[in-house]
Amino acid sequence: MQFLLIFGFLGVLAQWSWVAGSLNNDDQVFSITPKTQAEVDIVKNVSSQYETVLWSPAAPEFIREEAEVHLFVPGNSSQAVRELLRTHGVTHAVLLANTKELIEMQTRNASTDPRSGMSYYDKYHSLEDIYHWLNKTAMENPDRIKVILIGSSFEKRPLYVVKLSAISTTNTNKKAIWLDCGIHAREWIAPAFCLWFVQYSLSFYESNRDMATILDNMDVYVLPVMNPDGYKYTWTTDRMWRKNRSTREDSRCAGVDLNRNFDANWCTEGASHNPCSEIFCGEFPESEPEASAVASFLRRHKEAVALYVSIHSYSQMLLFPYSCTRDLAENHAELLSMAKEAAQKIKRYYRNNYKYGAGAETIYLAPGGSDDWAYKLGIKYSFTFELQDRGRYGFLLPPSEIPRACNEALIALKTIALRVVERIPPPA
Ligand code: ARG
Ligand code: ZN
Repeated sequence: MQFLLIFGFLGVLAQWSWVAGSLNNDDQVFSITPKTQAEVDIVKNVSSQYETVLWSPAAPEFIREEAEVHLFVPGNSSQAVRELLRTHGVTHAVLLANTKELIEMQTRNASTDPRSGMSYYDKYHSLEDIYHWLNKTAMENPDRIKVILIGSSFEKRPLYVVKLSAISTTNTNKKAIWLDCGIHAREWIAPAFCLWFVQYSLSFYESNRDMATILDNMDVYVLPVMNPDGYKYTWTTDRMWRKNRSTREDSRCAGVDLNRNFDANWCTEGASHNPCSEIFCGEFPESEPEASAVASFLRRHKEAVALYVSIHSYSQMLLFPYSCTRDLAENHAELLSMAKEAAQKIKRYYRNNYKYGAGAETIYLAPGGSDDWAYKLGIKYSFTFELQDRGRYGFLLPPSEIPRACNEALIALKTIALRVVERIPPPA
C-alpha cells in the first residue's frame, strides 16, 4: 500500500515536471537552423505535416542547410513539433513566445479618426478603416488626389488606386510611379506604408525639395491594399494568411499567391501547382482578379509608368529583377547602383542594414512576380522592397516600429525615384 502511494506520488511529480518542462501551449514562433540535409528534411516534414505556418522562407521547398527558418507553431501542435525536433536532435530557439499579445497590440485602437493627425499613421488599420481613410483623404484633397477603381477582388471588394499629383500640372512630359502594397495579406506593414506615403506626399510637397522634384515630374499611382480579401481574412480569421482567398472546385485549399500569378516564367521553379501550397501560382497567369486588374492597368499606362515598386515584408531587402530566372536584367548595373544608394541612405539615416540585389540571387527563385512582369512589360525601373524586420517580430511588427520602418522605405523610394527623374528623356 505504502509502495503504491509512493509510486503514485512519484508518478504525479514526474507528470507535473514534464508539463512544466514543456512550457506552455501558447502559439509561438520557432527559429531553426538546420545543419545538415537530414535536418533540412526533418524541418520540411514538420512544416508540412503539422499545423504550422512557415514565416520564412515562404515555402518548404526553399529550406536549405545553414539558413534560418522561422516557423509559427500554434499551441495545439507545439507539443508534437517539439517532440519530433527533439527526437531527431534538431535544436530550436523560441523567437516569439507572446504572439497573442503582439497580435493584440497590432489590432488595438485600430479605428482612429483620420483627422486626429499623424497618429493615425502609427497604427495598423482594418480594411474598412482603410476604405474610409481613402474616401476621406480624397474628399479633403480634391486637387491632389483622384481615386480610380481598377477592378475587384475574388470576393468582389473594390480595388482602389489613389492617383497623387502635384497641384500645378504644366509639365507635359509627366511620367508616373506605380506603388502597390499588401500583395501578401499578413505583411501588415505594407499597407501601413502606402498610407504613410500618401500622407507624406500630401504634407511635404511644399516643404521637401526632393518630394517636389519627384511629384513635379511624376504622378504616383498607389494601390494601398492589393489583396483586400486576404487582408480582411488576417483581421478576422487567420493572422498568418498570405495568399488571396479564391476557391476552386478541385481543391479544399483556398488562395493563390498573387506574387506567383503574373506572366513572368509563370510557375517554373520556385512556384507550385498545388493549391494547398503557399506559393500556388493559380490556374494560369493572371487567373486571379487582383493580379489581372493590376496587370491590365499597367498595360494601359505603360508609356507613363517609369518606376514600379511593390512593398512586402519582412527581411529588409531592396530587390530588383530578375526573380524568375538567374539571368541578369539588361540594366542590372543601373538597378544595382540605385538599390545600393538607397540601402546606403537607410544605413546613414536610420542605422539599419538592408540587403540589395536581384531577387533570384538575394532570396530565391520566385517566378510569376509582379516586379519581373512589370519589368518585362517595359518598366525598366522595377523594385520589390522587403521592409522591417529581420525576424525579431516578423509579421507581428509592433505599431511603435511603424514610423521607422516607413521612414526607411520612404527614403529608399525617394532616392530611387530621384534617379529615375534624372533619366526621364526630354519631350521629343
Ligand atoms: N518574398 C517575396 C515573395 O516570395 C519576394 C518577392 C521578390 N520578387 C519576386 N518577383 N519574387 O513573393
Ligand atoms: Zn510578400
